Amino acid sequence: MNLLITGASGLLGGRIAEHADSRGDSVFSGYLAHHPPFGYPLKLDVTSPQSVSEAFRRARPDVVFHTAAITGVDRCELERDLATQVNVEGTRNVADAAKNAGAFLVFLSSDYVFDGSKGLYREEDERNPVNFLGKTKALAEDIVRSSGARHLVARTSFVFGSRAAKAEPNFALWAIRKLKAHAPFRVVADQFITPTYDRNLVRMLFEAADRRIEGTLHLAGATRLSKYDFAFSIAKSFGLDWELLIPSSMGEVGWVAKRPVDSSLDTSNARALLENKPMELSESLKGLRGEMPD
Ligand SMILES: NC(=O)c1ccc[n+]([C@@H]2O[C@H](COP(=O)([O-])OP(=O)(O)OC[C@H]3O[C@@H](n4cnc5c(N)ncnc54)[C@H](OP(=O)(O)O)[C@@H]3O)[C@@H](O)[C@H]2O)c1
Repeated sequence: MNLLITGASGLLGGRIAEHADSRGDSVFSGYLAHHPPFGYPLKLDVTSPQSVSEAFRRARPDVVFHTAAITGVDRCELERDLATQVNVEGTRNVADAAKNAGAFLVFLSSDYVFDGSKGLYREEDERNPVNFLGKTKALAEDIVRSSGARHLVARTSFVFGSRAAKAEPNFALWAIRKLKAHAPFRVVADQFITPTYDRNLVRMLFEAADRRIEGTLHLAGATRLSKYDFAFSIAKSFGLDWELLIPSSMGEVGWVAKRPVDSSLDTSNARALLENKPMELSESLKGLRGEMPD
């Protein structure tokens, strides 16, 4: 299969490219500033229609994984023009090119399209983002749906894994490093998520793409818990000192952008539909431990 990945230098895009390589797919790894670790590197700026059409011309993709985005929550709040250009207009460029090429488009969206007042959101629940990142993702979802491209909108949540993208550790890596350094740190106990192990997510994404599952699907971990309990589970799983964790509240953190209180995703549709099921956190952490021998 011919694949094109946007954002292949990112946390998730890198994992997708690695998995595609291991399956023997022909994979073009789109990047903007950081050289991607897997696949055939292809400079690709999603904000430029010319750059996008050139990438499609070279890759001739059957499937496109569109992961490129400005993902920093506070960054999106502060740099709204950039977030709009990349997350909204960039998605329009990719969706239009996918339509013209007859490629199947898998768009990575986010739990942050929800306002967090309810939790365990189902695919059909009303979206009501509380911050600019969530707004751009909701707009991008609408663009994908009306593009005419065959597509899947895959919403995920709080992705973690053994690899740091662009030298920026994900939450699990960061917590493990702190705990190993015996450094006490604060974690919010009143914000709830469904942490998602990147390797589990990638397997679900590939199955959905291989089967050309269309529509909207929540592809996330199967366990809902607070960020504090996530850090606690990591400490226990890795045999590290959980007493270093200091519970704090969302109000104490100096975030620029508002965060949803409970953006956890209900993954029962994915569980029913896919052979690769959303994994419970204990299973995911076991997988992570296997990847990170001391
Ligand atoms: N990570 C999570 O917890 C999470 C949760 C929910 C949803 N998602 C969604 O999943 C997707 C992937 O997230 P991630 O955490 O893997 O992202 P990430 O590590 O922050 O990587 C973002 C990627 O976007 C690329 N990019 C930025 N601007 C670009 C542009 N103008 N043209 C082309 N590429 C550009 C970056 O390329 P360079 O590095 O080369 O500049 C990088 O590869 C995103 O759409 C995100 O919204 C992620």
